[in-house]
Amino acid sequence: MDDFKVEVLPNDFNTYDLSFKIIIIGDSGVGKSCLTLKATKDYFEEYYSATVGFEFFTFNVKIDGKYVKLQIWDTCGQEIYRSLISSFYRNSSLAMMVYAIDNMDSFDHIGSWLNEVKTQSSPDVKIFLIGNKTDLENKRKVRKDVADKFALENKLDLCMETSAKSGFNAKNIFIEAAKMLYAEHLRFKDRASKGSLGGNDVKLPQPQKLTAKRIDGEEEKKKKGCC
Ligand code: GTP
Ligand code: MG
Repeated sequence: MDDFKVEVLPNDFNTYDLSFKIIIIGDSGVGKSCLTLKATKDYFEEYYSATVGFEFFTFNVKIDGKYVKLQIWDTCGQEIYRSLISSFYRNSSLAMMVYAIDNMDSFDHIGSWLNEVKTQSSPDVKIFLIGNKTDLENKRKVRKDVADKFALENKLDLCMETSAKSGFNAKNIFIEAAKMLYAEHLRFKDRASKGSLGGNDVKLPQPQKLTAKRIDGEEEKKKKGCC
C-alpha cells in the first residue's frame, strides 16, 4: 500500500479537505463501540451498554498534506435491529466487519455480514476484517491464520487483530483505512484527469469534498440515530 506519512489530529479538529464514511458492523458484544471509543477518545468502557441504532464518531488525520476526516458509523449488532442497519450502508466507502477472537459464533457470522455489505453497499466498497479482544488470548477460539485465510479467499482489503482494552491496533485500523481511501481517491483523480473514466459508469469511492466544515457537539448529536 502507498506509504503516506500520517499524523493523527485531535478529535475536535474541524477543518478538512476530504471526508469518507466508514461503517462498523458485527455481532453484538464484539467490541465495536469500545474499539471506536478507544481509537477516537482513548477511553475504554468495561460496562456493556448495547448501541441502539448507531453512534457517530470522527477520526481526523493529516495525510500527504491533506486533512482527511473519517465519519465513523458505529452500528448496533443486536439481531432485533438488523433490518435497521441496511439503511446505514448508503455512501459508505469502507465497512469494518468486527468479530471477537474469544467468540467463535461471532466469526462464523462474518460470512452473513459480508453478504450484507455486498448487497447493500456500492461494488467498490473497501472491506476490513477485524478480530477484537486480543487481550483475551488465553480464551482465544478464532485462530489468526483462519481469519487471514477467510480474508484472502474473499478478497478483503485488510485483516487485523485489535484490543479495545489494551489499545492494540485500535488507532491503526483507522489509519490504514484513511491511507487506503486516500490512495483510492488519488487513483480516481489520476484516471479522471487522463480521461479514462468513460462517463458515469465507473464507481470508485467518491469522498465528499468539503472545506472548513464544523462538526461540533450539536451537529454530532443531530446525526445520532435512534430507534
Ligand atoms: P453492540 O452495541 O450491542 O453491537 O455491541 P458492541 O459490539 O458495540 O460491543 P461493546 O463495544 O459495547 O463491548 C461489549 C463488551 O465487551 C463490553 O463489556 C466491553 O467492555 C467488552 N470489550 C470490548 N472490547 C474489548 C476488548 O478488546 N477486550 C476485552 N477484554 N473486552 C472488551
Ligand atoms: Mg455498540
